[in-house]
Amino acid sequence: MKAILKEGILGSVPHDSWANSYDQLFEASFGSHLANLTDLTMEIVLELSEPSESILDIGAGTGRMSLPLIESNFYVSSLDPSAGMLSQLATKLPNHPNLELIHCPVAELEMHERHHGALCIFTVSSYWLDESTLSNSLRSIYNALLPNGWLIIDRTLTTSFSDTVFQNERIQRQAMIEDLGGDLYRFTEQSTISSSNDIKQINDSFLIRYWEEDLFLDHVKVTGFSVEQDLSQVFASSGASFYLLRKN
Ligand SMILES: C[S@@+](CC[C@H](N)C(=O)[O-])C[C@H]1O[C@@H](n2cnc3c(N)ncnc32)[C@H](O)[C@@H]1O
Repeated sequence: MKAILKEGILGSVPHDSWANSYDQLFEASFGSHLANLTDLTMEIVLELSEPSESILDIGAGTGRMSLPLIESNFYVSSLDPSAGMLSQLATKLPNHPNLELIHCPVAELEMHERHHGALCIFTVSSYWLDESTLSNSLRSIYNALLPNGWLIIDRTLTTSFSDTVFQNERIQRQAMIEDLGGDLYRFTEQSTISSSNDIKQINDSFLIRYWEEDLFLDHVKVTGFSVEQDLSQVFASSGASFYLLRKN
């Protein structure tokens, strides 16, 4: 009989309890789409910054962007409030001299003018649930950037607040989104991954938020960023609006 391993029974930090299954689930659900998004982002980063410069990867997760950035010789600070996600990233690049791990929500980052650029992409801003967290997060990023530093940030579109259901021989993924009203949604992951001798059950549930564009960009501008380019067309199939911001 297969052993059943329970993972993530409503842990308090999103993703923490199933971080070691995140890559497998996301690769299965999004596949080459995610790889294309990574390549496209790297192309833009390489136009904005020289390798050997320093980049802050906000909500770095398991390192989808941090890894290729380091492969391209950038110095990378990977920030995430999930210790589980950061630990997955760390196992991919043990003791790498170009990698710094920062374990906190970005709103709590206290860093002064250290980075040439920053990435805050793939739904990270949807984890900020109220205007004060949006404002404090943008402020922390602004402070961490060198004068004239750049930020690529995305804003998840309403159409992306929808269920993801996927099944193959080994993976059964159900990521459900419930509309709670007031631009808030409950994300609930209830998935299983089977192997020859066990079945992992993954359960997590947390709130996320849709940010209306005018409100989002008002905060961006009040923080002191200017919108250098709306990259939404470039990332048209991503389910998010993308913006290139510049520290004034
Ligand atoms: C869907 S993952 C995206 C990971 C990565 N940016 C990527 O592109 O693959 C969202 C990440 O945002 C992180 N996150 C959630 N709240 C955050 C916050 N307040 N500050 C920074 N990161 C946060 C989560 O822990 C998670 O790792």
